[in-house]
Amino acid sequence: MPLQREENLSLYSNIQANGKIGFSSPSNIALVKYWGKYGDQLPQNPSISFTLDHSRTEMILEYSPKGETDKHKTIDLTFTFEGKENKAFGDKITAFLTRLLPTHPYLGQLTFNLSSTNTFPHSAGIASSASSMSALALCICTLENRLFQNMNEVETLKKASYLARLGSGSACRSIYPLIASWGESAAIPDSTNLNGTPLANDLHPVFRNYKDAILLVSKKEKDVSSRAGHKLMENNPYATVRYEQAKNHLSQLVTALKNGDLDTFIQITELEAMTLHALMMCSSPYFLLLEPNTITLIRKIRSFRENTNIPVCFTLDAGPNIHLLYPEAHQEKVHDFITNELSGYCEQNKWIADQVGNGPLSLF
Ligand code: PMV
Repeated sequence: MPLQREENLSLYSNIQANGKIGFSSPSNIALVKYWGKYGDQLPQNPSISFTLDHSRTEMILEYSPKGETDKHKTIDLTFTFEGKENKAFGDKITAFLTRLLPTHPYLGQLTFNLSSTNTFPHSAGIASSASSMSALALCICTLENRLFQNMNEVETLKKASYLARLGSGSACRSIYPLIASWGESAAIPDSTNLNGTPLANDLHPVFRNYKDAILLVSKKEKDVSSRAGHKLMENNPYATVRYEQAKNHLSQLVTALKNGDLDTFIQITELEAMTLHALMMCSSPYFLLLEPNTITLIRKIRSFRENTNIPVCFTLDAGPNIHLLYPEAHQEKVHDFITNELSGYCEQNKWIADQVGNGPLSLF
């Protein structure tokens, strides 16, 4: 599948300078879930997520010219994660850049030193693929712009979202502040399966500083990769209905997010979380990622909402941890609720106070 903007990215004739680019890019939490893909990392249904603030990857890309032209057909990269060389991650990133090489030959003309750290604790059970692939894509697009001056700011973000998607589907949404969708939807003008769409202009003020308390039920690596999970949707007997349901949920949620309609927001967000896990439980082979404490927490969150009328709700990723979502105005009472009633069900009582955030930042 051709890249969107491949014009004139032939070998760069004059790479001389060394350089350094850095980005801090956040994770995101999906409200309508992407689960099932086709072709080259294209989604079977549209999805939408809040961009987070504190759960981030910081990535620094240093580059220098390779010189010898006979070596221009391969990627030369050293990758350091949290201060130590990490060959396994480095090989994955090299494979990703090698896929881009035919359309981005300049990548073969440079030697890269890439270093990355996460702001959230290592193996906290929080997926780092969205934050890391979006940070990497922003570094690559900034490099491309330095060399070719071929994109304005909007185009740079769009291409970064496109490349992030090729690395890890949901990463394409992390490029944009506050809220972003990905995938064709009649409810979102100019939406496409190829990259994310920014939606911050259509977000009601109540959601602009929404809180996300990540309750760490288990910090274990998950048993099933999202790649395997997406693949299992190919034979899931409920796949077609699911894709239709997600499209409807997305349309309804876009309106609720615009109007500040918390009831619809809560109803769809929780149903999406349960549907994601239900889909995993009826795949063949099935898998069960919820832990007993996840279920206890879900029950407690629902009773708290019923008893207090405080509009808290939850969502889940492909794992056992709960994302407790709520408006900033209720922060004090919800923090007390977490401390008194929820954190005891988290591994080592750990939870992360995150919130909706303004998206990636350039580090230099
Ligand atoms: O981007 P992937 O391939 O890691 O898949 C992400 C899947 C979910 O996190 C479960 C849902 C989503 O839309 O982010």
